[in-house]
Amino acid sequence: MRLSSFLMFPIVGLLGRFVHAAVTESTLKACKELSKALSGQVSFPLSLDYYHESSEYWSTVLRDIKPACVVVPQSALEVATSVKILNKYPDVKFTAKSGGHDPNPGHATVRDGVLISLGEIAGTAYDRSSNLAFVKPGGEWNDVISTLNKDGVTVVGGRLGIVGIGGYLLQGGISFLSSQYGLAADSIVGWELVTANGTIVNVDAKSQPELSVALRGSGSQFEGIVTQFTIKAYPIAKVWGGLRIYDESKTNEIFKALHEFVPSNNQEQKAAIIVSNLVAVGGTRAFIIFYFYDGETPPTSGPFADFLQIGSLIDATKTQTYPELLESNGFGASLLNSRISFRTVTIPYVADKPTIYAEISDKMRNITKSYLSNPLHLTSQCSVDFQPLSSIVGRHTESGGGNAMGLTGSDPDRVILEIQCSWSSANDDEIMRQFSRDLTSWIESRIPVWLEGYNQAKDFYLPLFMNDAMADQNVTGSYRDYAKLKSLQLQADPKGTLRTRTGGFKY
Ligand SMILES: Cc1cc2nc3c(=O)[nH]c(=O)nc-3n(C[C@H](O)[C@H](O)[C@H](O)COP(=O)(O)OP(=O)(O)OC[C@H]3O[C@@H](n4cnc5c(N)ncnc54)[C@H](O)[C@@H]3O)c2cc1C
Ligand SMILES: *[C@@H]1O[C@H](CO)[C@@H](O)[C@H](O)[C@H]1NC(C)=O
Ligand SMILES: *[C@@H]1O[C@H](CO)[C@@H](O)[C@H](O)[C@H]1NC(C)=O
Ligand SMILES: *[C@@H]1O[C@H](CO)[C@@H](O)[C@H](O)[C@H]1NC(C)=O
Repeated sequence: MRLSSFLMFPIVGLLGRFVHAAVTESTLKACKELSKALSGQVSFPLSLDYYHESSEYWSTVLRDIKPACVVVPQSALEVATSVKILNKYPDVKFTAKSGGHDPNPGHATVRDGVLISLGEIAGTAYDRSSNLAFVKPGGEWNDVISTLNKDGVTVVGGRLGIVGIGGYLLQGGISFLSSQYGLAADSIVGWELVTANGTIVNVDAKSQPELSVALRGSGSQFEGIVTQFTIKAYPIAKVWGGLRIYDESKTNEIFKALHEFVPSNNQEQKAAIIVSNLVAVGGTRAFIIFYFYDGETPPTSGPFADFLQIGSLIDATKTQTYPELLESNGFGASLLNSRISFRTVTIPYVADKPTIYAEISDKMRNITKSYLSNPLHLTSQCSVDFQPLSSIVGRHTESGGGNAMGLTGSDPDRVILEIQCSWSSANDDEIMRQFSRDLTSWIESRIPVWLEGYNQAKDFYLPLFMNDAMADQNVTGSYRDYAKLKSLQLQADPKGTLRTRTGGFKY
């Protein structure tokens, strides 16, 4: 029993209308019915539980988007009960939240609607005989990876341990292990979910291949709320990695090494990097590079080794357990207490154009320079993360049965960019998001120029990566099987419950 919400309920009954003028009558009714059915697990404004649940978001932008009430189900059955009740109130909006790391307003938040927080549907189990992990959506990757590590196994998951699980797995998920095993979603073979009509169903990849493909990378738009994922496990022992920080003087060396690394990742599959190029006060640049090697010692020759020769300001790389690595990688991001935006674009790897990354970095600096030169914006910054998506990833996708993003083994090498800005004043929300939009539209206009005369140009398929996208990006529309997936979505969600009442990227 959640005592504080119980105590607060009568007060809210009196004040609710005044506190939340925009909450509709039917939403209040739905909340009351939920509260009756799930006694003590529904909280209302002015209670501590409500405050806690509706504030637990990574980007501070989302902490101000308040629901009418928050449901914290303890089991799939209670999620089903909640959804069944919500079906009686067709004009009430609701959404699921797992980790609350998606920074887009309206995805894991629902202003004046019903928030279903899955934080207590958490936990990981491993079955040695089938080599499968059973992962619930609440909690964070730190928990999953440290639990599995006791059995010497792991799953394809987050690279920073603090990241949430449910949204990450539903949107696709890129991992340090992706060049070895594909996207995180490619290793999912089963989903327990509560459908839009409140029924608990189990989707199995073998018997429902088409639906499984759709579930791998469509976000929250297929079937309903996932309460457990069944995921193929892989062996893991000690790994090498961590982050290193570099100053601007290393820009050329870093981009040269990045260019050589991308195609080499097809052979050197145990290696992974994230090259994060930061632009901060006055347009100063810096780099944080996350390194990973699935082994105790990194290679001593080849592009990954070349990277490691570049002199850094700070070096936190070492041999350690995989859970230790994820824990320390997440530390910096856990301290951020900022308004944050994501935006993404996928760029081709053009072998004869090693200057693309520097061009992008320069453009980001040009776009943000005058804003970042203003001393009032000292705490703001933007970064472009370069994430290699080597061809091999698609080969693993195919052998797993395929995903919604439509990666295949015959696709060329690409690089996924994640553009992140962080700032502190709500007045700057639109300015900061616009910087990222300006950058991606400029990049989109440059891609044909970069590809001019390049013999692989006709083959480039450049889908957007949902985990890193901004709400206004047409992610599913960039998927090669968009039309097919859309009609499947219409079949699976005939009443449009998921399309019109819940948050997230839509078909
Ligand atoms: C610090 C940081 C590091 C990151 N690192 C990576 C990385 O290494 N690789 C990568 O691919 N991405 C990464 N991301 C992006 C991350 O994958 C997405 O932000 C993802 O949405 C986070 O998952 P979550 O559980 O916190 O999602 P939430 O914010 O809780 O939800 C996101 C969306 O999914 C829906 N949803 C959530 N759970 C469920 C469920 N169980 N059933 C149905 N719908 C649900 C929500 O309604 C919402 O629309 C990172 C993000 C951050 C902030
Ligand atoms: C509920 O949805 C499931 C799956 O979408 C479907 O199989 C089932 O028939 C539906 N049940 C009712 C009562 O509509
Ligand atoms: C950035 O600005 C500089 C100086 O104005 C200019 O020379 C350069 O071409 C710009 N870079 C890009 C990619 O726009
Ligand atoms: C998204 O893209 C698809 C495919 O190009 C298109 O049909 C659809 O209308 C787009 N959706 C939106 C909302 O723009």
